[in-house]
Amino acid sequence: MPVSVLLGLQWGDEGKGKVVDVLGDRVDVVARFQGGPNAGHTIIIGGQKYVLHQIPSGIFRPGVRNIIGNGVVINPAVLLQEIRGLEAKGVDVRSHLYISTRCHLILPSHVHLDKLSEQRKGQAKIGSTLRGIGPTYRDKYGREGLRMGDVLTPRFAEKLDTLQTAHYEYLHALGYAADRAADTQAFLEALEALKAYTITDTEVLLHKALAQQQHILAEGAQGTLLDVEFGAYPFVTSSNTTAGGACTGLGIPPSAITQVYGVFKAYCTRVGSGPFPTELDNAQGEAIRQAGGEFGATTGRPRRTGWLDLPALKYACSLNGVTHLVMTKADVLAGMDHVEVCVGYELNGRVQDYPPFDSEGALKPVYRSFPGWPGFGPDDALPVSFRQYLDFIEAELGQAITFVSMGPDRKEMVQLVA
Ligand code: GDP
Ligand code: IMO
Ligand code: MG
Repeated sequence: MPVSVLLGLQWGDEGKGKVVDVLGDRVDVVARFQGGPNAGHTIIIGGQKYVLHQIPSGIFRPGVRNIIGNGVVINPAVLLQEIRGLEAKGVDVRSHLYISTRCHLILPSHVHLDKLSEQRKGQAKIGSTLRGIGPTYRDKYGREGLRMGDVLTPRFAEKLDTLQTAHYEYLHALGYAADRAADTQAFLEALEALKAYTITDTEVLLHKALAQQQHILAEGAQGTLLDVEFGAYPFVTSSNTTAGGACTGLGIPPSAITQVYGVFKAYCTRVGSGPFPTELDNAQGEAIRQAGGEFGATTGRPRRTGWLDLPALKYACSLNGVTHLVMTKADVLAGMDHVEVCVGYELNGRVQDYPPFDSEGALKPVYRSFPGWPGFGPDDALPVSFRQYLDFIEAELGQAITFVSMGPDRKEMVQLVA
């Protein structure tokens, strides 16, 4: 049986959590492959809202095993809080959650380092979620990080001490006040409590699932345009959000991947700094923000809004080899007089059909206008003008849109093609 990868095609918050939850009744395993508590994946089931940061979005499906893969970075205190929040609502986390021994740990000092780094950048800041993501991946690739499995070994205290000493010496040298003793106590308490959950070599678990022909859904976080390789660097996150990240972040071979679900909104949003060619910094943008409830699920920050960007979407499909397209938030544009789609960029007098290496603000989107559409539900026929919007996007991308979501609830999604 196949591995399906599901990821965002824009700048995150495309509705990945909702779509994973919907597809969750067709799979055996859901496995997060990168990112950490910078993610906020919202799931609404019968009016009850859940926001997941590190736990995979298959946790509400009975019988589904949920894996936090090796590519994910974990903040133990945040994970524990998340687990306890779900347990308080009656979700059985303990028997369905598997945490990789190879996940790198976000230390309290990594969070301080993230904050210090952003402070020092001033106007040039990335707009990080300040969850310690960048510094943790930096230590991982610098071969100085600590992993979940280290917690179970005798040399853990010594390794923690070495890394912390380096971090706090740097923080204090730059005048950043941080209480190492208090940080360490909270960190160790959370780790101790997490030992009650399954910490295991999840890559082996996945290999066995593959051998048994089980269906694995690999859940991405963030979005393609925040990928550390292909996003507008440095305004990116510190991991591979693209399909290849599923292989390295879970320990599964590329040949096991048979489907790639690419999720995108009917328009665009972005939180944090960085280029956003179709941004609507005006009343129209505010109307979309209000209609779509575009405020960060992790930080509560207002999301920047803009029209759909087809060159960027095409680029994202090519990077990921998308086999199934999922459009979300079609309801948010309902009732608008017209909607626009960016079909190319003008850059230095030339038209460019993919995001440039460095736009320096000189990029001018070329738009095509479409009539708006009325609201519709999952049991209604698609409004003709909405179908025209879909037809155009499908023709430009050269493939059909498989699912359309028109509301946040699990039930508000339709499958258009098999
Ligand atoms: P994720 O990070 O990709 O999982 O997305 P987020 O949860 O951060 O943001 C998506 C937001 O849109 C959440 O508030 C969802 O409840 C909501 N949502 C998802 N799909 C739809 C949809 O089709 N219509 C509307 N109106 N909201 C949606
Ligand atoms: P989900 O999984 C939207 C953005 C931040 C910032 C940049 C770097 O919910 O789609 P980081 O904290 O990783 O150092 O921030 O990436 N960002 C996200 N934007 N959705 C997310 O996750 C994001 N995770 C990080 O706003 O611009
Ligand atoms: Mg989100």
